[in-house]
Amino acid sequence: MKGFRNTKVVGFVLGLALVTLIPAATPWCVHVQSQMNPSQELLVHCKSGDDDLGAQSMGNGNELKWCFNTNIIGTTLFWCYLASNNPVKWVSFNSFLDIGTFYNKCSNGDCFWVANDSGIWLWNGPVSKYEHWYEWRQGR
Ligand SMILES: *[C@@H]1O[C@H](CO)[C@@H](O)[C@H](O)[C@H]1NC(C)=O
Repeated sequence: MKGFRNTKVVGFVLGLALVTLIPAATPWCVHVQSQMNPSQELLVHCKSGDDDLGAQSMGNGNELKWCFNTNIIGTTLFWCYLASNNPVKWVSFNSFLDIGTFYNKCSNGDCFWVANDSGIWLWNGPVSKYEHWYEWRQGR
């Protein structure tokens, strides 16, 4: 039974090596801020396949923020439904995608969306400017 003890030690060392080699899951935070006309309430409802953040009503300057880890198979996806009255309009868009063309625009794990009267904007961190990503749709 002398070999048994050695097996345990080898297993421990291997386990330690694996934990050190596998990078920790990257935590991401997504922000959705209202910069709508101050008279407008913005309804924001974001979710993923696993999480429903619930519908929230936000005034100008308010922000919804949530953080999560991506799954190891790279299919993490969040989407948001935004709606506003006066005029009645809405938009539905993917607010987080586990692909480089999206997350490379985030800054240190933070992805910033702004909704204003001209549409939905994503902050492009590396070039420090907002990009227009989505248009409002009229009606309900
Ligand atoms: C909001 O709207 C204005 C003009 O309508 C636009 O120029 C501006 O860049 C927009 N985006 C942000 C993030 O403020």
